[in-house]
Amino acid sequence: MNQKIRKAVIPSAGLGTRFLPVTKAVPKEMIPIIDKPMIHYIIEEAIQSGIEDIVLITARHKEDIERYFDHNYELEDRLAKSGKQALADQIKNIAQSCNIICCFQKEPAGLGHAVGLARPVMGDEPFAVLLGDDLIDAKVPCTRQLMDVYQKHGTSVVGVMEVPHEDVVKYGIVGGSKIDDRTFKVTSMIEKPKIEDAPSRFAIPGRYICDSSIFEILKNTKPGKNGEIQFTDALFELSKQRGLLAYQFEGDRYDTGDRLGYLDATLAFGLKRPELHDGLIALMKKHLA
Ligand code: G1P
Repeated sequence: MNQKIRKAVIPSAGLGTRFLPVTKAVPKEMIPIIDKPMIHYIIEEAIQSGIEDIVLITARHKEDIERYFDHNYELEDRLAKSGKQALADQIKNIAQSCNIICCFQKEPAGLGHAVGLARPVMGDEPFAVLLGDDLIDAKVPCTRQLMDVYQKHGTSVVGVMEVPHEDVVKYGIVGGSKIDDRTFKVTSMIEKPKIEDAPSRFAIPGRYICDSSIFEILKNTKPGKNGEIQFTDALFELSKQRGLLAYQFEGDRYDTGDRLGYLDATLAFGLKRPELHDGLIALMKKHLA
């Protein structure tokens, strides 16, 4: 039996430049899809996958995220006293659902650097990494799917999806050899390659399971693309030292860091809410008329 995965890192220190001007004052993770901030969906995925401890890598001006996952006694009390117990419980549950540990990234040195900051909390346990710009709607949460692959093979694993040729420039891209229908052994990996250099069209949309040896590798990873310490470069080194799998997960992925992707997610999640479904369809019809 391979080691159980109980911990996750959620890097959330980015500037959110793709969502300026709102991100001047609001952390991009706090932008809502309907009525929950994006990071709430990410944390839900982690919890539903069985994660107990979450390390949020944050930065200055991101205090709203911490506040959101803390208790708000005054609000809970007021809602309860005004007969809105269900709403009070919902607000309370957000703060009680898991242990959140916040860690500051004091310089924008890249995703690899951000993940490396979680080392004191992770110790020598394998852990999950979830990136906040990617919402994945799946019957079995994407992180859970990757955890199952880790349990089966005992090897670190990244989630992948096939993207159009022209989109390889936006992602970490993996090349590999097939083990089964959905699983590959990773043999090459490039962060945001040129179209002609891409080893495949399999892109990593921000879901990973790593064993703790990644931390020593990250310590020695030199700045790569854009002068930043790239997580993809460290993972490629991990693939050479200990092996790495890529798993084509089942589910729909939304790039909520992109404005159209964000609207796509808003519509898709809105249509799934029974109380909004019919009204939303009526609105769409009105706008298309
Ligand atoms: C990061 C990673 C990249 C990954 C992407 C997924 O890039 O570096 O490998 O494919 O997230 O969203 P970013 O989009 O933060 O530049």
